[in-house]
Amino acid sequence: MTDFTAHAPGRVNLIGEHTDYNGGMVLPAALSIGLDVTLAPREDDTVAVSSGDYDAPEIRNLSDDAVGEWSDPCVGAVRVANDLGLLSGGATLEVQSTIPEGSGLSSSAALIVAILKAARAAGGGTQSDVELAVAARRVENEYMGVPCGIMDQMAVALATPGTAMALDTKHLEYDLVTLPDSHEMVVIHSGLTRKLTDGRYAARKVECDAAKAHFGTNDLCLLPVEQIEQAELDPIAKRRALHCATEQARVWAAIDALKAGDIAALGQAMNDSHVSMRDLFEMSLPEIDALVASAQELGAAGARLTGGGFGGCIVACVAKDTREAWLEQLLARHPQARFIDAVGA
Ligand code: GLA
Repeated sequence: MTDFTAHAPGRVNLIGEHTDYNGGMVLPAALSIGLDVTLAPREDDTVAVSSGDYDAPEIRNLSDDAVGEWSDPCVGAVRVANDLGLLSGGATLEVQSTIPEGSGLSSSAALIVAILKAARAAGGGTQSDVELAVAARRVENEYMGVPCGIMDQMAVALATPGTAMALDTKHLEYDLVTLPDSHEMVVIHSGLTRKLTDGRYAARKVECDAAKAHFGTNDLCLLPVEQIEQAELDPIAKRRALHCATEQARVWAAIDALKAGDIAALGQAMNDSHVSMRDLFEMSLPEIDALVASAQELGAAGARLTGGGFGGCIVACVAKDTREAWLEQLLARHPQARFIDAVGA
């Protein structure tokens, strides 16, 4: 049986958090860490998954429900590949990954997208990468029960090294914007792991739904800030909506700044985004606030929590020629933190 291979990178979101299920913009970039999948189609209904990280292969069946195991995204992806007519049965999968799990760097989306790309090659499919990203989101939403947006799947399916993806998540239109020459986007793990399945991500989604119901729209990001400020609604739902609408303006400011090479404006948007995530969306943690504050004090042009929140990584925009000294001082102050990756032009 022939093997089919595919690669997907991890991603870091530069700005635009929790906007991707509220009709807004995001600005993710592909990382150099990523994962590779080798897929061999099977005629039975077995999904056999092995990975360098685990001793024995996991043997699952196509009809299995999600059980909270690392192989869930694999079973879900093989099921969707069957729905798309790319496979007719199970698959043997070999996964090699350098993306740490539970870090907010889209290890799950990368795994699903890479499996779907390998299945597209196996089945001779004509689906576009955007169609595969949409199908990959279905695996998380419907099979795994994670109510995530579309950012991660689009980023890992389509982002190219050296660029950030200015993605309109409402229309799935995007523009690849070149990253600066002079600076790098440095990803630092806080040492605190997180899972989208732990309930806090879903709780934020429910709070946004309350605001959506109040305003009669799915697109909190597109509401005028004054309209939200003047509205009489539950204070928590109001703070969530205010984050979405102000974050939308900050993503556009960051895109304009990147295009103009205005690092100060980019950094300001990132710093302001962190404050909004901390105070309005309430998705940060004291240790992460401290790490972001240190990153800024030590000379980053901007720094913020990145991803779903409640742990995971921060991203900082740091001048290339000061990166080494900056990193050394940051890690000396925060021994539980660790360097993950740095991306630039
Ligand atoms: C996770 C989700 C994304 C997005 C971010 C927050 O990464 O998978 O869809 O909502 O959190 O911006």
